[in-house]
Amino acid sequence: MMPEKFDVEYFKNQLRTTWLGSEFIYLSKVDSTSTYLKRIPSPDLVHGSVVITDHQMKGRGQYERKWEAEPGRNLTFTIGLRPPSAERLTLLTLACGYAIALVLEEYIPGEVSIKWPNDLYIGDKKIGGLLTECTFFGSKPDRVLIGIGLNTGQNHFSDDVKEKAISLADIADRAFSREQLLCRFLEKTELFYQQWHKHNTELQKQISQKMIGYGEWVRVRINGELRDEKYKFLGVNEKGELLLLNRELDVNTFSYEQIRIITARQGVPEPNR
Ligand code: BTN
Repeated sequence: MMPEKFDVEYFKNQLRTTWLGSEFIYLSKVDSTSTYLKRIPSPDLVHGSVVITDHQMKGRGQYERKWEAEPGRNLTFTIGLRPPSAERLTLLTLACGYAIALVLEEYIPGEVSIKWPNDLYIGDKKIGGLLTECTFFGSKPDRVLIGIGLNTGQNHFSDDVKEKAISLADIADRAFSREQLLCRFLEKTELFYQQWHKHNTELQKQISQKMIGYGEWVRVRINGELRDEKYKFLGVNEKGELLLLNRELDVNTFSYEQIRIITARQGVPEPNR
Protein backbone atom coordinates (compact mmCIF):
# COMPACT_ATOMS: atom_id res chain seq x y z
CA MET A 1 0.00 0.00 0.00
CA MET A 2 1.44 3.37 -1.03
CA PRO A 3 1.40 6.34 1.35
CA GLU A 4 -1.54 8.54 0.53
CA LYS A 5 -2.91 11.84 1.66
CA PHE A 6 -6.12 11.53 3.64
CA ASP A 7 -8.93 12.77 1.36
CA VAL A 8 -10.86 15.20 3.55
CA GLU A 9 -13.50 16.03 0.90
CA TYR A 10 -14.27 12.39 0.23
CA PHE A 11 -14.47 11.74 3.97
CA LYS A 12 -16.79 14.68 4.64
CA ASN A 13 -19.10 13.70 1.80
CA GLN A 14 -19.58 10.25 3.24
CA LEU A 15 -19.84 11.08 6.95
CA ARG A 16 -23.33 10.51 8.34
CA THR A 17 -23.01 11.67 11.95
CA THR A 18 -24.94 14.42 13.69
CA TRP A 19 -22.19 15.90 15.85
CA LEU A 20 -19.17 13.62 16.04
CA GLY A 21 -16.56 14.85 13.57
CA SER A 22 -18.50 18.01 12.60
CA GLU A 23 -15.43 19.86 13.80
CA PHE A 24 -12.77 18.06 11.75
CA ILE A 25 -9.10 18.99 11.65
CA TYR A 26 -6.73 17.38 9.17
CA LEU A 27 -3.00 17.94 9.66
CA SER A 28 -0.47 16.67 7.18
CA LYS A 29 2.05 16.41 10.04
CA VAL A 30 1.88 16.83 13.80
CA ASP A 31 3.73 15.67 16.92
CA SER A 32 0.64 13.86 18.22
CA THR A 33 -3.06 14.34 17.50
CA SER A 34 -3.81 13.97 21.22
CA THR A 35 -1.19 16.53 22.21
CA TYR A 36 -2.59 18.87 19.54
CA LEU A 37 -6.08 18.64 21.06
CA LYS A 38 -4.63 19.21 24.53
CA ARG A 39 -3.21 22.54 23.37
CA ILE A 40 -6.53 23.95 22.14
CA PRO A 41 -7.78 26.57 24.64
CA SER A 42 -10.77 25.33 26.58
CA PRO A 43 -13.35 27.83 25.21
CA ASP A 44 -12.43 26.83 21.63
CA LEU A 45 -12.69 23.09 22.03
CA VAL A 46 -15.86 21.70 20.46
CA HIS A 47 -17.41 18.49 21.85
CA GLY A 48 -16.93 15.80 19.22
CA SER A 49 -13.90 17.35 17.52
CA VAL A 50 -11.76 14.96 15.51
CA VAL A 51 -8.12 15.55 14.67
CA ILE A 52 -6.36 13.30 12.20
CA THR A 53 -2.89 13.32 10.73
CA ASP A 54 -1.05 11.49 7.98
CA HIS A 55 2.24 11.80 9.77
CA GLN A 56 2.38 11.60 13.51
CA MET A 57 5.94 12.27 14.57
CA LYS A 58 5.70 11.67 18.33
CA GLY A 59 2.79 9.27 18.66
CA ARG A 60 2.19 8.31 22.26
CA GLY A 61 1.01 4.90 23.39
CA GLN A 62 -0.03 3.45 26.72
CA TYR A 63 2.50 3.37 29.57
CA GLU A 64 4.61 6.11 28.00
CA ARG A 65 5.45 3.91 25.06
CA LYS A 66 5.68 5.42 21.63
CA TRP A 67 3.18 4.61 18.92
CA GLU A 68 4.71 3.94 15.54
CA ALA A 69 2.85 4.52 12.29
CA GLU A 70 4.27 4.83 8.79
CA PRO A 71 3.11 8.13 7.28
CA GLY A 72 0.07 8.00 4.98
CA ARG A 73 -0.67 4.33 5.59
CA ASN A 74 -2.54 4.17 8.87
CA LEU A 75 -5.20 5.83 10.94
CA THR A 76 -3.88 8.05 13.71
CA PHE A 77 -6.54 10.32 15.14
CA THR A 78 -8.03 11.68 18.37
CA ILE A 79 -11.57 12.53 19.31
CA GLY A 80 -12.13 15.33 21.82
CA LEU A 81 -15.17 14.96 24.07
CA ARG A 82 -16.59 17.15 26.80
CA PRO A 83 -18.75 14.84 28.90
CA PRO A 84 -20.53 16.30 31.94
CA SER A 85 -18.63 14.10 34.40
CA ALA A 86 -15.48 12.02 34.48
CA GLU A 87 -17.32 8.94 35.65
CA ARG A 88 -17.43 5.77 33.59
CA LEU A 89 -14.65 6.88 31.24
CA THR A 90 -13.26 3.36 31.10
CA LEU A 91 -16.56 2.19 29.64
CA LEU A 92 -16.47 5.07 27.14
CA THR A 93 -13.01 4.03 25.96
CA LEU A 94 -14.16 0.44 25.70
CA ALA A 95 -17.15 1.62 23.65
CA CYS A 96 -14.76 3.24 21.15
CA GLY A 97 -12.74 0.03 21.00
CA TYR A 98 -15.94 -1.89 20.44
CA ALA A 99 -16.89 0.46 17.58
CA ILE A 100 -13.50 -0.15 15.96
CA ALA A 101 -13.82 -3.90 16.37
CA LEU A 102 -17.21 -3.91 14.65
CA VAL A 103 -15.99 -1.75 11.78
CA LEU A 104 -12.90 -3.88 11.18
CA GLU A 105 -15.05 -7.00 11.14
CA GLU A 106 -16.85 -5.59 8.08
CA TYR A 107 -13.58 -6.07 6.19
CA ILE A 108 -12.09 -9.28 7.52
CA PRO A 109 -13.27 -12.87 7.69
CA GLY A 110 -12.42 -13.35 11.39
CA GLU A 111 -13.17 -11.74 14.67
CA VAL A 112 -11.66 -8.68 16.33
CA SER A 113 -11.42 -8.73 20.14
CA ILE A 114 -10.82 -6.16 22.81
CA LYS A 115 -7.93 -6.95 25.09
CA TRP A 116 -8.25 -5.20 28.42
CA PRO A 117 -7.81 -2.35 28.78
CA ASN A 118 -7.29 -0.64 25.45
CA ASP A 119 -6.02 -2.98 22.75
CA LEU A 120 -7.61 -4.44 19.64
CA TYR A 121 -6.57 -7.91 18.63
CA ILE A 122 -7.09 -10.26 15.74
CA GLY A 123 -6.11 -13.70 16.98
CA ASP A 124 -2.90 -13.12 18.93
CA LYS A 125 -1.86 -10.01 17.01
CA LYS A 126 -2.50 -6.40 17.84
CA ILE A 127 -4.11 -4.26 15.13
CA GLY A 128 -4.71 -1.10 17.14
CA GLY A 129 -4.80 0.63 20.47
CA LEU A 130 -6.47 3.47 22.30
CA LEU A 131 -5.08 6.03 24.70
CA THR A 132 -7.57 8.01 26.79
CA GLU A 133 -6.54 11.14 28.63
CA CYS A 134 -8.65 13.46 30.72
CA THR A 135 -7.86 16.95 31.94
CA PHE A 136 -9.77 18.66 34.74
CA PHE A 137 -10.95 22.07 35.91
CA GLY A 138 -11.18 21.36 39.63
CA SER A 139 -13.29 18.23 39.91
CA LYS A 140 -15.01 18.69 36.53
CA PRO A 141 -13.53 17.24 33.38
CA ASP A 142 -12.37 19.86 30.93
CA ARG A 143 -11.80 17.43 28.07
CA VAL A 144 -11.54 13.74 27.40
CA LEU A 145 -9.22 12.83 24.56
CA ILE A 146 -9.52 9.41 23.03
CA GLY A 147 -6.54 8.79 20.77
CA ILE A 148 -6.72 5.90 18.37
CA GLY A 149 -3.99 4.25 16.36
CA LEU A 150 -4.99 1.60 13.83
CA ASN A 151 -2.62 -0.35 11.63
CA THR A 152 -4.43 -0.18 8.34
CA GLY A 153 -1.62 -0.39 5.82
CA GLN A 154 1.57 -0.51 7.85
CA ASN A 155 3.85 -3.07 6.26
CA HIS A 156 6.95 -2.67 8.35
CA PHE A 157 6.99 -2.90 12.12
CA SER A 158 10.00 -2.34 14.37
CA ASP A 159 11.73 -5.38 15.84
CA ASP A 160 10.06 -4.96 19.25
CA VAL A 161 6.55 -5.34 17.87
CA LYS A 162 6.84 -7.16 14.56
CA GLU A 163 5.93 -10.59 15.98
CA LYS A 164 2.87 -9.19 17.73
CA ALA A 165 1.41 -6.71 15.24
CA ILE A 166 -0.82 -6.97 12.20
CA SER A 167 -2.33 -4.59 9.63
CA LEU A 168 -5.78 -4.58 8.14
CA ALA A 169 -4.19 -4.74 4.66
CA ASP A 170 -2.68 -8.15 5.57
CA ILE A 171 -6.04 -9.77 6.13
CA ALA A 172 -8.83 -7.69 4.56
CA ASP A 173 -11.02 -9.64 2.18
CA ARG A 174 -12.37 -6.54 0.47
CA ALA A 175 -11.13 -3.11 -0.50
CA PHE A 176 -11.17 -0.39 2.13
CA SER A 177 -10.12 3.20 2.45
CA ARG A 178 -9.05 5.05 5.57
CA GLU A 179 -11.78 7.62 4.88
CA GLN A 180 -14.44 4.92 4.79
CA LEU A 181 -13.15 3.29 7.98
CA LEU A 182 -13.12 6.58 9.85
CA CYS A 183 -16.69 7.42 8.74
CA ARG A 184 -18.00 4.04 9.86
CA PHE A 185 -16.14 4.30 13.15
CA LEU A 186 -17.47 7.78 13.94
CA GLU A 187 -21.02 6.73 13.07
CA LYS A 188 -20.88 3.78 15.45
CA THR A 189 -19.11 5.75 18.15
CA GLU A 190 -21.75 8.48 18.03
CA LEU A 191 -24.41 5.84 18.63
CA PHE A 192 -22.48 4.19 21.45
CA TYR A 193 -21.76 7.57 23.04
CA GLN A 194 -25.53 8.20 23.29
CA GLN A 195 -26.00 4.75 24.82
CA TRP A 196 -23.17 5.41 27.25
CA HIS A 197 -24.66 8.80 28.13
CA LYS A 198 -28.05 7.18 28.84
CA HIS A 199 -26.48 4.42 30.97
CA ASN A 200 -27.83 1.80 28.59
CA THR A 201 -26.80 -1.54 30.10
CA GLU A 202 -26.90 -3.31 26.72
CA LEU A 203 -23.69 -1.49 25.81
CA GLN A 204 -21.60 -3.06 28.57
CA LYS A 205 -23.05 -6.50 27.79
CA GLN A 206 -22.15 -6.24 24.12
CA ILE A 207 -18.68 -4.92 24.90
CA SER A 208 -18.11 -7.75 27.40
CA GLN A 209 -18.84 -10.36 24.74
CA LYS A 210 -16.09 -8.90 22.58
CA MET A 211 -13.43 -9.07 25.26
CA ILE A 212 -10.66 -11.62 25.28
CA GLY A 213 -11.30 -14.18 28.00
CA TYR A 214 -15.00 -13.39 28.44
CA GLY A 215 -16.78 -16.33 30.16
CA GLU A 216 -13.47 -18.18 30.63
CA TRP A 217 -11.46 -19.09 33.69
CA VAL A 218 -8.55 -16.71 33.66
CA ARG A 219 -5.70 -15.58 35.84
CA VAL A 220 -4.72 -11.99 36.39
CA ARG A 221 -1.41 -10.27 36.31
CA ILE A 222 -1.21 -7.19 38.50
CA ASN A 223 1.77 -4.89 38.06
CA GLY A 224 3.50 -7.68 36.20
CA GLU A 225 2.88 -10.27 38.93
CA LEU A 226 0.83 -13.33 38.03
CA ARG A 227 -1.67 -14.22 40.78
CA ASP A 228 -2.30 -17.88 41.56
CA GLU A 229 -6.03 -17.58 41.99
CA LYS A 230 -8.29 -18.28 39.03
CA TYR A 231 -11.35 -16.27 38.19
CA LYS A 232 -14.21 -16.55 35.77
CA PHE A 233 -14.22 -13.39 33.68
CA LEU A 234 -17.77 -12.02 33.67
CA GLY A 235 -17.07 -8.95 31.53
CA VAL A 236 -17.35 -5.32 32.59
CA ASN A 237 -19.86 -3.39 34.69
CA GLU A 238 -21.50 0.00 34.03
CA LYS A 239 -18.22 1.76 34.83
CA GLY A 240 -16.15 -0.47 32.59
CA GLU A 241 -14.57 -2.20 35.60
CA LEU A 242 -13.60 -5.86 35.29
CA LEU A 243 -15.87 -8.38 36.98
CA LEU A 244 -14.13 -11.55 38.09
CA LEU A 245 -15.84 -14.38 39.93
CA ASN A 246 -13.65 -16.39 42.27
CA ARG A 247 -14.10 -20.05 43.21
CA GLU A 248 -15.96 -19.03 46.36
CA LEU A 249 -18.46 -17.33 44.02
CA ASP A 250 -17.64 -13.77 45.16
CA VAL A 251 -17.57 -11.22 42.37
CA ASN A 252 -14.39 -9.15 42.52
CA THR A 253 -14.30 -5.78 40.80
CA PHE A 254 -11.05 -4.51 39.36
CA SER A 255 -10.63 -1.05 37.98
CA TYR A 256 -6.92 -0.92 38.28
CA GLU A 257 -5.26 -0.23 34.96
CA GLN A 258 -2.22 -2.36 35.63
CA ILE A 259 -4.24 -5.53 35.63
CA ARG A 260 -4.01 -7.99 32.76
CA ILE A 261 -6.25 -10.93 31.95
CA ILE A 262 -4.36 -14.12 31.19
CA THR A 263 -6.42 -16.75 29.39
CA ALA A 264 -5.94 -20.50 29.18
CA ARG A 265 -4.93 -20.05 25.52
CA GLN A 266 -1.97 -18.10 26.79
CA GLY A 267 -0.78 -21.12 28.69
CA VAL A 268 -2.70 -21.10 31.95
CA PRO A 269 -4.72 -24.28 32.52
CA GLU A 270 -8.41 -24.37 33.42
CA PRO A 271 -9.03 -24.84 37.16
CA ASN A 272 -10.13 -28.31 38.32
CA ARG A 273 -13.74 -28.00 39.43
C1 BTN B 1 -1.51 1.89 22.61
O1 BTN B 1 -0.46 1.99 23.26
O2 BTN B 1 -1.92 0.81 22.20
C2 BTN B 1 -2.34 3.12 22.34
C3 BTN B 1 -1.90 3.80 21.11
C4 BTN B 1 -2.64 5.08 20.83
C5 BTN B 1 -2.04 5.80 19.65
C6 BTN B 1 -2.88 6.93 19.18
S1 BTN B 1 -2.45 7.45 17.56
C7 BTN B 1 -3.44 8.86 17.73
C8 BTN B 1 -3.28 9.37 19.14
N1 BTN B 1 -2.15 10.26 19.24
C9 BTN B 1 -1.20 9.76 20.01
O3 BTN B 1 -0.11 10.32 20.26
N2 BTN B 1 -1.54 8.56 20.47
C10 BTN B 1 -2.86 8.19 20.03
